[in-house]
Amino acid sequence: MEPRLKRFAFYGAVLAGSLLALASAPSRRADDPAIPPRVPANFTAGWRFPAGARASFASHAMVASDNRIASDVGVQIMKDGGNAVDAAVATGFALAVAYPEAGNLGGGGYMVIRMADGRVAAIDYRETAPLAATRDMYVGPDGKVTGESVIGPKASGVPGAVAGMLEAHRKFGVLPIAKVLAPAIRLASEGFVVDTAFFRSVSGAKYRIENYAGKIPFFANDSAPAIGSRFAQPALARTIGLIADSGAAVFYRGSIADSIAAEMQRAGGLITKADLARYRPIWRQPIRSSYRGYALIAMPPSSSGGTTVTEILNILEAYGPAAPFGSAEEIHAAASASQRAFVDRNSKLGDPAFVKAPVSELTSKAYARAIAKTISRDRADPTSGLASALREGTETTHYSVVDPMGNAVATTTTLNDLYGSGVYVRGAGFFLNDEMDDFTSKPGVPNMFGLIQGEANAIAPGKRMLSAMSPTIVLDPKGQLLLITGARGGPRIISATYQVILNVIDHRMSIADAMNAPRIHHQSRPDSIRVEPGGFEPSVIARLREMGHFVFEQGAVASAASIMRVKGGYEGVDDSRNRGGAALGF
Ligand code: DON
Repeated sequence: MEPRLKRFAFYGAVLAGSLLALASAPSRRADDPAIPPRVPANFTAGWRFPAGARASFASHAMVASDNRIASDVGVQIMKDGGNAVDAAVATGFALAVAYPEAGNLGGGGYMVIRMADGRVAAIDYRETAPLAATRDMYVGPDGKVTGESVIGPKASGVPGAVAGMLEAHRKFGVLPIAKVLAPAIRLASEGFVVDTAFFRSVSGAKYRIENYAGKIPFFANDSAPAIGSRFAQPALARTIGLIADSGAAVFYRGSIADSIAAEMQRAGGLITKADLARYRPIWRQPIRSSYRGYALIAMPPSSSGGTTVTEILNILEAYGPAAPFGSAEEIHAAASASQRAFVDRNSKLGDPAFVKAPVSELTSKAYARAIAKTISRDRADPTSGLASALREGTETTHYSVVDPMGNAVATTTTLNDLYGSGVYVRGAGFFLNDEMDDFTSKPGVPNMFGLIQGEANAIAPGKRMLSAMSPTIVLDPKGQLLLITGARGGPRIISATYQVILNVIDHRMSIADAMNAPRIHHQSRPDSIRVEPGGFEPSVIARLREMGHFVFEQGAVASAASIMRVKGGYEGVDDSRNRGGAALGF
């Protein structure tokens, strides 16, 4: 086709798509019997969030992310005819500019996609270990693990974010990439007004940032950019501009690859141009499962997220009908299911290119029935007595998007810690991750999230480190989009994700209540239930202790961003545990 005609056909298709979308938009749908009415939630008096809060509402399309500016970018892209994947990619690049604690070009992530025509896809753009990485690289001469997997130049895996987002756009996007990236370029070159959340976030990471090249832009006068000032990132604008012009090749084989390799050499890191040149994102079959008649579409390994969320929900379904929210019975069931699923996660899962990850076994209903039988009604079992029953043959960000056609995207991306390894690529304007800490540095020794993992997740050159990221899409019993969710928070991501799903399906909470409800977490080791302070009745905690659970109160259990279909449109919420995020739409 001649270019002019091609363009005409392209805009024609966009227009037709939009008209189709308006015709099938939820606002035009009558009452939906597949979504049962919501039931008011009741939270205990000591809990910090009130029940009955209001979510954002939009009739046609929505983005829920941890940063208002980035959500707004995604919404604008959809108003300009972009679909949910265009919006997710635009939001992802905007997060890299306006939310550099977790949004990134120097990290990696996962995207789960469900198109309105029923197609599903999952893209894995997790980092890989550099070729020079070795199994014991973080074990010092004294046999103890060093801190090098969490801070500094040796902590970084080969970044996947740019390759992954561009590949998702190539396959599913409808707008030209230059248009999708334009808002992020503008945001970086013109800057944005620094708010309290940004100031606090940067200030809090001074110890991590100031030893590397990021000191100049982020701590120009020894302090973070002032509240109310405009913070521009010209080097980052140039980098995203180059990506808009020449695609991911410039990042993996061109001038940005040169800058990354040079920074690594200067600082003493491992990533080389050869590592960057061989990086590839991978399309994977999403995990398909169901929970009490609702369908789940979730992320397979190299993330453990979808497998573990599915296993927990399957065990709970097999265990029996849900007990009331916040009761000792419910917490005991959820914690015991989670404890067992984490035993499997920590011992069996790893990059499928390196280990045979038994995903279909772990996510089968039969396996869940067998596990559910091992959970007593009134007694906790110590993790030490739980081997995997399977027989063989601080910083991340999640965002959810829905477009006017009903296409849905769940994305989680991370640098691992806030501002990753702290190493900043000079000239190119972004931080590199410290994802290597997600590997097993040494079997039996906890990583920064207290996860004790095994051989399946040992370090090897080119291998992806196991993740807990759990971008998830839920369909109602009629097969229509119901929920897009996922979270940040290391292994607690899995807990927040399955609990939001339980709250929506079992307790029929509104999405605002489902997100605000207090959460629990059990990752098998430490062998304990962590509960959010003030979230549960003292009598419930006492009962759990009587059953033999070790229960302790500590901080927030992850932070999620969710969108749920409701009568006439969508409701969306960015977690109240996180400041500065927003669900926006039209
Ligand atoms: O992939 C993972 O599981 C971790 N790197 C996620 C880290 C994280 O969520 C930190 N944020 N709060």
